[in-house]
Amino acid sequence: MLVLGIETSCDETAAAVVADGHPRIRADLVLSQLAEHRPYGGVVPEIAARAHLDHLDGLIARALKESGAGWADLAAVAATGGPGLIGGVMVGVMEAKAISYARQLPFIAVNHLEGHALAPRLVEELAFPYLLLLVSGGHCQLVAIEDVGAYRRLGTTMDDAAGECFDKGAKLLGLGWPGGPAIEAAAKTGDARRFPLPRPLAGKPGCDFSFSGLKTALAEKTRDLADHNRLDAQARADLAASLQHAIVAHLADRVAHALKQFHLQYGPDRALVASGGVAANDALRARLETLAAEEGYRFVAPPPRLCTDNAAMIAWAGIERLKRGLTDSLDFAPRPRWPLDPAARARVS
Ligand code: KG4
Ligand code: ZN
Repeated sequence: MLVLGIETSCDETAAAVVADGHPRIRADLVLSQLAEHRPYGGVVPEIAARAHLDHLDGLIARALKESGAGWADLAAVAATGGPGLIGGVMVGVMEAKAISYARQLPFIAVNHLEGHALAPRLVEELAFPYLLLLVSGGHCQLVAIEDVGAYRRLGTTMDDAAGECFDKGAKLLGLGWPGGPAIEAAAKTGDARRFPLPRPLAGKPGCDFSFSGLKTALAEKTRDLADHNRLDAQARADLAASLQHAIVAHLADRVAHALKQFHLQYGPDRALVASGGVAANDALRARLETLAAEEGYRFVAPPPRLCTDNAAMIAWAGIERLKRGLTDSLDFAPRPRWPLDPAARARVS
């Protein structure tokens, strides 16, 4: 079973061909738009949509060629149907619908978050249920993944996403964009103890996250140092280390609560899984590995390339859905917002 996957929900144009058998990933192409957006210090939706439009056709042709598959070998076409920047999502969905119509292939609209949630199963044996920490530029959630399409949110962010905190922090420190990798690199030569930052929601129960206080504290410290002409390279590295330390500690604190809750409900010998762009962070991975072990759980995270946005995870989610007969009709409307667990909205807000 070969499925073509398309991802265009943010600033990566991606196409992949994934199989049910081995090897699974037959082609996995990601065209980053970093250079186009960098002058603006973040993703510009209009530029992203136009870039997807310019490159998607060619990228799909290259992915098919690389995989050695022809149109006739495909079992379905899957595209991110949301959530994301709507212009980009529309480009991917329309492309997938056109292919579906022209080639008589089933069309599957994949929730981008489901792509991240199921990505670990693409590379590892991983049984349901598992506890997922989904940490990306737009999302920060703890979700019990019970089965394909059965997701129960345990916690979410009350303000920014973890990736946003990295990105805004890097911007404040003048370390460039995207912020996660820049902060991680700078932190390597920094001392996290020099400028301690507050721990959001310290001592508070629950599994929700908050990052805005951290961002404000960092902004104040940075301004203070700049005012006294002390914001040199070492100070920036120390602040980067401190920010990373605080973000990881906050994530770990909430994950620890979620692990207890999850354990009570689903029992021992399960897995803690991290996915999304921030899960590429080594300090976070190491911390989560320890936490999982303390609970007697396995820790699983896809390789960094499959943590950040890619189309292999979309094709894989397509395979998981196709196997269960879950396909979509061509009147599917792209969704700028699309919670994994619709019931969670009522519970949290
Ligand atoms: O999943 P992703 O590629 O796109 C979204 O769906 O948002 O995540 C992008 C986010 C950005 O905020 C980026 O700064 C962050 O993931 N990120 C990292 C690292 N690599 C990417 N954050 C911390 N450490 C990293 N190594
Ligand atoms: Zn993502």
